[in-house]
Amino acid sequence: MYDDLPTLGVGLGYRLPLHRQTLDNRDRIDFVEFIADQYLYGTPERTERFLQLREHWPLVPHGVGMSIGSATEVDRDYLDRLGTLVEQADAPWFSDHLSFTKVPDTDVEQLTPLWFTEESFDTVCRNVEQVKNTIDKPFLLENITYYFHLPGNDMSEAEFTTRVLEETDTGLLLDVNNVWVNSVNLGFDPYEFLDSIPLERTVQIHLAGGEYVEDMMVDTHGAPVHEPVWKLLDYVLERVQPKAILLEWDQSWPDFEELLAHLDRARAAVAASQAKVS
Ligand SMILES: [Fe+2]
Repeated sequence: MYDDLPTLGVGLGYRLPLHRQTLDNRDRIDFVEFIADQYLYGTPERTERFLQLREHWPLVPHGVGMSIGSATEVDRDYLDRLGTLVEQADAPWFSDHLSFTKVPDTDVEQLTPLWFTEESFDTVCRNVEQVKNTIDKPFLLENITYYFHLPGNDMSEAEFTTRVLEETDTGLLLDVNNVWVNSVNLGFDPYEFLDSIPLERTVQIHLAGGEYVEDMMVDTHGAPVHEPVWKLLDYVLERVQPKAILLEWDQSWPDFEELLAHLDRARAAVAASQAKVS
C-alpha cells in the first residue's frame, strides 16, 4: 500500500539532552524522528542548525499540536509552518495524533482523546483533508493512550480509527505501547484490537515504556519497553512490514547503550519476522 515510501529501519526519537550521544552513535541509529512543534516558531537559524542532522539520518517530523480532532479547522499558520518544515527536512512523511489538543483560544497541551462519534468522525475527516490539501507529503495518524472511557460513544476506538484511516486514505503510525497501555487500563484484548484495525496501513511503529502510577499504567516514555509490548510488535511484524520502527524515550534515561540495545532488539524482531516469511 505504501510501496513508494523508503524503508528507514529502526530509529530513535531525537531529544536534546541526548544530542551528543545520539550523534556519537549515529551508525547504530537508522533515522531520527523529532518533535516538529519545537521548530515551528523558533528562529530560522535554530531550525537550520537542527536540520543539519540531515547529513547523518533521514529526519521524520512528528507533531503534537495539530489538534486534528478540534471542531474548528486546523490552524492555518501552524499548517503552513509545518509544511515548510516538512519540506526543509526532506521528510518522507510526517505524523500527528488522533486526538485534540486545542479548543478555541486555549491549548490544553495534552493529547486528549476524541469522542468516537459520527460528529467527531466528520470533523476529523474534514481536518485531515485540510492537512492533505496543504502539505504534499504522506500524513500518518497515531493512536494515543487514554485513561477512561468517555460516555456517549457511537463506536469503538478500533472502528473509529479504521473508518478515519479508510475514509481519508491515511497511513497509520501504530504505537504498540499505546495499544498495550490502553488494554491494561481499560481491560481489553490488545490482539483483538490489532486484528480489528487496518494494519496494512501501518507505515511506522512506535515503541516506548510506561510505568505504574498506583494501579494505572501510565505512558511516561521513561522506562524500558515492556515484554508484552515486544510480543505485540512480533504479532504486528508477522502481518505487516512497516517502513520504520522508532523508540520514544523522553525522560529517566538509562545508559545510552540500553537505548541502543532496544534498537538492536527491534531490528532482530524485523529480521526474525522476515525470515519466517521467506
Ligand atoms: Fe507514540
